[in-house]
Amino acid sequence: MKTSRQETALVTGASRGIGRGIALRLARDGVVVIVHYNQNRRAANATVRAIEKKGGKAFPIQADLSSLEGVSDLFRGVDECLKDSLGTRKFDILVNNAGISRGGDIEETTEAEFDELIAVNVKAPFFIIQQALPRLRNGGRIINISSGTARIAMPEEVAYAMTKRALDSLTLALAKQLAPRKITVNTVAPGIIDTDFQADWFEDPRAREFAASVAALGRIGRPEDIADVVAFLVSSEARWITGAFIDATGGSLL
Ligand SMILES: NC(=O)c1ccc[n+]([C@@H]2O[C@H](COP(=O)([O-])OP(=O)(O)OC[C@H]3O[C@@H](n4cnc5c(N)ncnc54)[C@H](OP(=O)(O)O)[C@@H]3O)[C@@H](O)[C@H]2O)c1
Repeated sequence: MKTSRQETALVTGASRGIGRGIALRLARDGVVVIVHYNQNRRAANATVRAIEKKGGKAFPIQADLSSLEGVSDLFRGVDECLKDSLGTRKFDILVNNAGISRGGDIEETTEAEFDELIAVNVKAPFFIIQQALPRLRNGGRIINISSGTARIAMPEEVAYAMTKRALDSLTLALAKQLAPRKITVNTVAPGIIDTDFQADWFEDPRAREFAASVAALGRIGRPEDIADVVAFLVSSEARWITGAFIDATGGSLL
């Protein structure tokens, strides 16, 4: 914890997968968590219940981040919820985690897939940060969840990889801009993690075997592998780290 006051985090896409793992991990450290979700209300409620069962505090907020309207919906919900429950609109930690994977190589990717990728993976985090800035306390934290694919040639998922590279650029620029407010901005890049994101591919057991072989550390990643990195970055121990690209791929890029 950076302060003795209880901190509050907004984690996008916390109904499932990596976001859920991050929400649970931050709550374990005593952080109040806003569990954002889009379509899976039941999964979001399950994340909230899991946090509450361990004595933590969490609130679900729905918003479709494929449009700017959704970003406004998100902050309407966040403002209301924080004001009602904590008496303030301010919070400390923003984790831009919600993301999608679409399309294939450059010949296969449609305009609709390209636009949806840009909307959810790039435009939403950009405008979420814009809306978050007046609400984020000085000394706060922004974590953008990118991907190892941002740092390698990935023709099979070219548009997706482009969106994650764009997020890295956002991290770099904002780390510089927000340093006077002692807000750190970092990117965490997962490798292949066992979530619904990979579900179609993982139906084939050979895919799981291959995925495990991609990481030098020899297994498929788990949401907790990423959540622990995020927990470190939001802690006071990480106060001197900003503008970093943290490779959390289990050595997949070596
Ligand atoms: N899994 C991997 O191997 C891997 C590897 C590298 C990077 N990543 C990145 O890690 C992040 C999380 O991935 P994951 O594996 O946890 O994915 P996931 O299991 O598919 O979960 C995606 C989350 O994003 C939310 N979401 C999807 N579309 C949305 C939209 N239009 N508006 C708002 N929220 C939306 C979902 O909400 P609902 O379920 O409520 O609809 C869900 O909570 C993504 O940014 C992804 O690019 C994942």
